[in-house]
Amino acid sequence: MKHENKLGMFIHWGPYALIEEHEQAMAKCSIPKEVYEEMAMGFDPDEYDPDKWVALAKGAGMKYICFTAKHHDGFCMWDTKYTSYSIMATHGRDVLKELSDACHRQGMLLSIYYSNPDWHHPKAYNPNSTHQWCATKEESDLVEYREYIKGQITELLTNYGKIYTLFWDIPPKLYDPTLNELARRLQPEMLINDRGWSEGDFSTPERDFNEVGFKRFERMTEACNSVGAESWGYRRDEDFHTKRYLTQSIDKIMAMGGSYLINVGPDKHGIITEEYASRIRAIGEWYKKVRHSLEGCEEDPYGLKVRGARCITTYKNGKSYLHFYEGLLSSGINIEGYPKEPAEVKLLNTGTTLRTLIGLVPSLYNLDGTSRTALRICGICADELECEAPVIEISW
Ligand code: GLC
Repeated sequence: MKHENKLGMFIHWGPYALIEEHEQAMAKCSIPKEVYEEMAMGFDPDEYDPDKWVALAKGAGMKYICFTAKHHDGFCMWDTKYTSYSIMATHGRDVLKELSDACHRQGMLLSIYYSNPDWHHPKAYNPNSTHQWCATKEESDLVEYREYIKGQITELLTNYGKIYTLFWDIPPKLYDPTLNELARRLQPEMLINDRGWSEGDFSTPERDFNEVGFKRFERMTEACNSVGAESWGYRRDEDFHTKRYLTQSIDKIMAMGGSYLINVGPDKHGIITEEYASRIRAIGEWYKKVRHSLEGCEEDPYGLKVRGARCITTYKNGKSYLHFYEGLLSSGINIEGYPKEPAEVKLLNTGTTLRTLIGLVPSLYNLDGTSRTALRICGICADELECEAPVIEISW
């Protein structure tokens, strides 16, 4: 299986939704372990309906969901026999099982997030790694803790059907290939990320898409980001990323050949509230118009030189796609290196056919008679596309 060009929904959900601050509220707000854990034992979501979550993702054109089975707080969102610090003790229902059933019913792939830091397990403290929480009174024993992880990973990769990818979080900076070997034995087709105990299959740039350059990825890559600007878990009064930023980020990463996970944090009841859901729908409205220019595409074979705005080009079935991942700067663009006159040019955002001309343009005039011609694409309603990444389709 390949992990390429898929849009997915990341879901951060756990007892931290009760605090409505951040998925790492326990550490970030310095909540004593006993206080946090007592609060966690009251996590009893009364409106959890995973079919709604899956339908939201599906409606936006997404192909997979990645769910936080265990975040840094160590609380387990499935029926695990290795600890009683789990959703079974507080809610009596295996919410992961219900999510996996909903995914399978609706043809959605399921991925699992598992945090290496664990602020509940008494032996899990690992100073090599980031995201440790000091509230452990016992000596760490990472051999024992790894056995615990192996038991839990075995449950997660055995009892929930086919798992698409395994998202370890926070590299432990300790090498132990036996964990990924176990995972591969249990789910031979599953892909594993690079935040685990040995090298995985794909890289995971996070949040800042401008950092990653703009050349096609050489390694399988899955970027992740959240609709919430500050938190991955549910946050009261969250600041939300703009549709423009999110679509530009998704467009850029996927045009480079990557996949993209966009996160929501359901609230304490289990609801993906309207402020989160509306953003997923807004992304979906754009995504459904452009997805064929991203999914399963190759690098453009013509080496088109697009002038006028930053652009990544993709190619599929005789069509080139121009992705203006930072938006357009004017109503026209000029392309050099075009193979022939195009049969049709369309702005995918609006579905409109665009006018093309082949000719000289002043910025390519030379005074010595060596001026170059360009393929001009004119009359783009750039001002109306302020809120989303523009994509142009050229049929040759
Ligand atoms: C960061 C955050 C963590 C979150 C993760 C998602 O590592 O610290 O809380 O789960 O991003 O990729």
